[in-house]
Amino acid sequence: MQSAINPFYAARIQRVAYLPARMDTREDSAAYARLPRAPINGSPVPHLTSLYHSAEAGDYGSRSYPGNCGGNLIKDLIRFFQPGLVFDPMSGSGTCADVCRELGVGCVAFDIHTGFDACEPNGFPPAGTFDFIWAHPAYWRMKLYADDPRDLSRSPTLDHFLRRYGQFIRNSAQALKPDGKLAILMGDYSDREAGYVPLVYHTKRLAFAAGLRQHCTDIIRFSHGNSSSKKVYRSSFIPGLHDVCMIFEKVVSRSEG
Ligand SMILES: C[S@@+](CC[C@H](N)C(=O)[O-])C[C@H]1O[C@@H](n2cnc3c(N)ncnc32)[C@H](O)[C@@H]1O
Repeated sequence: MQSAINPFYAARIQRVAYLPARMDTREDSAAYARLPRAPINGSPVPHLTSLYHSAEAGDYGSRSYPGNCGGNLIKDLIRFFQPGLVFDPMSGSGTCADVCRELGVGCVAFDIHTGFDACEPNGFPPAGTFDFIWAHPAYWRMKLYADDPRDLSRSPTLDHFLRRYGQFIRNSAQALKPDGKLAILMGDYSDREAGYVPLVYHTKRLAFAAGLRQHCTDIIRFSHGNSSSKKVYRSSFIPGLHDVCMIFEKVVSRSEG
């Protein structure tokens, strides 16, 4: 067969032929990527860079809770920013609260499961309360959480989701202290009906519209242990293997101090 092919192309085909085995990223034959070296700097958490690749979830929250995020990234962020009071308004299995308990940092944690609607302007904690808000919202309808129409994952349309998500970000912005930080962990979403939905882009757009600005680099969190990684699909697509942690801060005018 190959002798009938132009030798130039035959050589290329041979080279490509062994690539799939080397590039296989299944757990039983994991590929290792060489990460860039981080510059030495004054950070109290030097391994915290824009690439978050810890495969260890840590003993926080419950791994069996849908959408559980592992606690080590939260722990590193809290060690970096050293906040006084933390808020997790979509706490799920309590991962952030467990991290705070270990670090001896005060934390308030609510969820729609405890009757708290983070997308409702009334009932959110008062303005200027928190030093750090950790938010890990639903990636729209990727996973369904509460049997409650106020649950973000139950939003019937993307517009509805974005309206409520935008209100949540505005609520968070006003609940921050002047120098406070809002960290949002979000991933893009796609399905046949909606197509590809760039939720990371929408998060930034809504945060800027709420008067926040980005504080530092995005943190690309490698999705180790993602349930979809173990599935087999007939269709062809480029798998997304990360989500993004964005850190915003309040823009405080000089007159506000
Ligand atoms: C991605 S999960 C968070 C998981 C959590 N980080 C953990 O490690 O267990 C998103 C959470 O948002 C909650 N949620 C959805 N809509 C909400 C709303 N309107 N107000 C408060 N919580 C909401 C869900 O119940 C779910 O627990």
